[in-house]
Amino acid sequence: MNIGDIFPNFVANTTVGEIDFYNWLGNSWGILFSHPADFTPVCTTELARVVQLYPEFQKRNIKPIALSIDSAESHLKWIPDIKAYGNIDENTEFPYPIIDDQNRSLAVKFNMLDQDEVNSSGIVLTCRAVFVIDPNRKLRLSILYPASSGRNFDEILRVIDSVQLTDSHKVATPVDWKVGDECMVLPTIKNEECSSLFPKGVNTFEVPSGKCYLRKTPYPASE
Ligand code: BEZ
Repeated sequence: MNIGDIFPNFVANTTVGEIDFYNWLGNSWGILFSHPADFTPVCTTELARVVQLYPEFQKRNIKPIALSIDSAESHLKWIPDIKAYGNIDENTEFPYPIIDDQNRSLAVKFNMLDQDEVNSSGIVLTCRAVFVIDPNRKLRLSILYPASSGRNFDEILRVIDSVQLTDSHKVATPVDWKVGDECMVLPTIKNEECSSLFPKGVNTFEVPSGKCYLRKTPYPASE
């Protein structure tokens, strides 16, 4: 699957019952993130972090959904550990579903396996895949981490901010960009269009080639 492809629909058993992915998504964005196994240390830290960051996902109209290659019953038994690790009140409802992919059907379908990680039975585990899907069901961001490396969800939110800003304001975001920083005018925008599209102004950084492609504009959205 490539960025820009339609992310296929699927039906899966989860910690909140059977989900038809497209119906569950509705008009929201979605982030599907996979895990090698339940009751493993790195995964526990990640799932707890996503609970803590849940309001940040909500602000961006993104619904998180996790996947691990164990059963929904196992996921439900794991949730109290995740809450304990994340200092989350045990009575708080777990805010997002965890997909039961014990037969690895989605792991195979979406190419989420990490050939370097096998469990004690010699079965290949899933890597830490991140798929961000927009309300049109298009894959907008895809990152694969090896099973042994925990993700940085602040970075994932940062990229989502960039993707959503490109949609709303026709800008690209430079290295190490964060919300509020200067942006780059998309290379596809003609100079004649700049004054109407970027009322805060555009400055072109001069380079030895003499080509005018480094066009900067202040952060275009209201913070
Ligand atoms: C973990 O979640 O800690 C983990 C799982 C599989 C391989 C390495 C680490």
